[in-house]
Amino acid sequence: MNPSVPFLSGIKPTGDVHIGNYFGAIAEFLRIQQQYPGGLVMIADLHALNQVHNAAEIRHTTRELLLSYLACGLDPAKTTIFRQSDVPQHTELMQVFMSLCGVGLMERAHAYKDALAKGVEPNVGLFTYPILMAADILLYKPKSVPVGKDQQQHVEIAVDLLERFNHTYGVKVFSEPRLLIQADTGVVPGTDGRKMSKSYQNVIGLFDEPELIQKKVAKITTDSKLPTEPKDPDTCNVFALHRLVATAHELAELDADYRKGNISYKGSKDLLAERLIRFTEPIRERRAELEAKPAYLQEVLETGATRAGAIAGATMAEVREAVGLTLNF
Ligand code: ADP
Ligand code: TRP
Repeated sequence: MNPSVPFLSGIKPTGDVHIGNYFGAIAEFLRIQQQYPGGLVMIADLHALNQVHNAAEIRHTTRELLLSYLACGLDPAKTTIFRQSDVPQHTELMQVFMSLCGVGLMERAHAYKDALAKGVEPNVGLFTYPILMAADILLYKPKSVPVGKDQQQHVEIAVDLLERFNHTYGVKVFSEPRLLIQADTGVVPGTDGRKMSKSYQNVIGLFDEPELIQKKVAKITTDSKLPTEPKDPDTCNVFALHRLVATAHELAELDADYRKGNISYKGSKDLLAERLIRFTEPIRERRAELEAKPAYLQEVLETGATRAGAIAGATMAEVREAVGLTLNF
């Protein structure tokens, strides 16, 4: 029997970590870690191969993501941090699920449809990406999967595949994980008002230097209300970002200033930049300390691979038995 895993999640190492990743995913990992030790957080490097075909870049972004997890406060004593490619059972289980998954289900997946809509010819890795993600999740039988709203469909596909598996083979190897989406921060807007995403180049990086944060914040799109006109905090991108980093008191004050026309967008942006810098500063400092400890970073990944591998190996043994890949004479 696998030990109980409270949660599993992961991020693809495809670029620098931004505050959308932080508030949409990492903050939730930190919150659950406090309450439930024993979760797993993955660096989804095999998924990154669908997008990045450059070894140096994959190594760089993998290291960046590890540093980000640790600098944000993921604690390897409480949460297993591991690299997907260190655990070969991910691709092994994927192959089993591939045989249970209709092509139609993959054709309806957002990542694939988005690629088609953009006129990019999707590779097969992108097409089957939700199947690998299902394997990532189900190998560990986690109680919950904390992710941003954009990942909801993928988790639903994982549930679909686990039901097909259990139904087809008549054994309940897998049980349904709970999808955990944070209501307030489900979608963090970027500087252009669209979802903050590396692919839109509208991100505020977790490790951006203060001057860069100021520059990016100054460019956030707003409507053209005059400094003294009343403004609607609920539709303002600047205000949406304040919600993430302001204290409750600061937010209440700003809310009133918006409605009374006591603050200009410029004033709100200056405050926001200050608050973002206040928030990211300690994270940047911890990252600098960690960078000076390469042996520690190596050890975190090695320990992570051993722990994750033990759980994944136990599940895969059950799967092999269930589907007939075991043979005893
Ligand atoms: P990107 O869109 O920049 O490529 P990823 O797809 O790598 O980001 O997302 C990594 C994690 O961060 C996922 O759990 C995703 O849901 C979350 N995430 C990414 N962008 C946002 C956002 N703007 N708001 C909330 N969560 C986000
Ligand atoms: N697809 C997720 C993303 O783009 C990353 C991911 C891969 C993941 N496997 C996962 C998230 C398993 C949660 C569980 O962000």
